[in-house]
Amino acid sequence: MTPPLDVAVVIPTFNERANVAVLVARLDVALAGLAWEAIVVDDDSPDGTADAARALALADPRVRVIQRIGRRGLSTACIEGMCATAAPLVAVMDGDLQHDEALLPRMVAVLQGDPALDLAIGSRFAPGGGTGEWDRDRVAKSALATRLAALVLRSDLADPMSGFFMIRTATVRALVPRLGGIGFKILLDIMSASPRPLAFVELPYTFRTRAAGESKLDHVVALEYLIALYDRRMGRIVPVRFAMFSAIGALGAGVHMAVLSLAYLLLGWSFLAGEIAATAVAMTFNFFLNNALTYRDRRLTGARALFDGWIAFCLVCSVGAVANVGVAAFLHDVRAGYWAASALLGVLVGAVWNYALSSRFTWGR
Ligand code: GDD
Ligand code: MN
Repeated sequence: MTPPLDVAVVIPTFNERANVAVLVARLDVALAGLAWEAIVVDDDSPDGTADAARALALADPRVRVIQRIGRRGLSTACIEGMCATAAPLVAVMDGDLQHDEALLPRMVAVLQGDPALDLAIGSRFAPGGGTGEWDRDRVAKSALATRLAALVLRSDLADPMSGFFMIRTATVRALVPRLGGIGFKILLDIMSASPRPLAFVELPYTFRTRAAGESKLDHVVALEYLIALYDRRMGRIVPVRFAMFSAIGALGAGVHMAVLSLAYLLLGWSFLAGEIAATAVAMTFNFFLNNALTYRDRRLTGARALFDGWIAFCLVCSVGAVANVGVAAFLHDVRAGYWAASALLGVLVGAVWNYALSSRFTWGR
């Protein structure tokens, strides 16, 4: 009989083919004496990371692979990995060798040694830790993100953005229904989801420089971070997708007015022709922005899917516009004095309509 598992290490990957074998070899050394498993959660990386991980798994059954197809997202990958183990402790660790695996046995030791602790967190900002070769820009951005995290965290955590931590599996499993799963900030998500403050220790380490492959932390991820913070603070009042959809809709209104002024005032088109052009441009603008941002996790790609989605979106929004005008005109008939309130309610009805139907017919599954 093999001994019961002590710990699982969840490794989210996207295009880390060159790194997974090295990481598993390092885990083998670092976790010697413990019963462990590694769970690679790959989002169908084009570079074949999942194949590389499966080749490792054939040679070493402690390696497991979850390949998600048609899904993207670091946080959701970590959540699914953490739910896929029977081990009492589970770590999350990047697959690009930037995290120091020497911390893992110490994390196991502190959690096994103190039942009151929920979490052991690898920390770059606790005394003794470091960010290695970061440029000034990234240091500044990281400091800003860390300060923003204080908006949703009540605990005094030096490195809330850490992607490297170990937690009791039962604790995280109980929290899963409350997790937002947006973007990169899985630890922040877990800590801010918990109804009681989680007890943690921070173990300092130095973030290593990436040797192979590249970071996926881009502007969209930064935006997702802001979205996740919003979701934590306000998401129950106005759902985050609807908020984004509406914000993009407001931008679309600006685009509409810009095109209309160009066509009507500058080019001397008829008002009707200007309106038609402005509506078409604004709808197209909204479609692509919503596809890239609001529905990033189920983004339509490829000419055919984009075209179908665009048509569906335009149809939904055309009906939405009729509803908008209809409601506004009706309210205005009832109470002529309140023209602005009538118009705003029309806009609201149109926005809810557009949102509800496009989430089903354009980006639905
Ligand atoms: N499955 C999956 N899906 N994995 C992903 C995805 C995704 O969409 N995006 C990134 N990953 C994997 C990468 O392959 C890597 O193993 C790990 O997640 C971290 O991604 P990087 O792209 O290397 O992020 P980073 O090094 O810039 O960011 C690190 O530091 C941040 C704080 O500065 C991460 O540890 C972040 O979690 C951390 O917040
Ligand atoms: Mn990295």
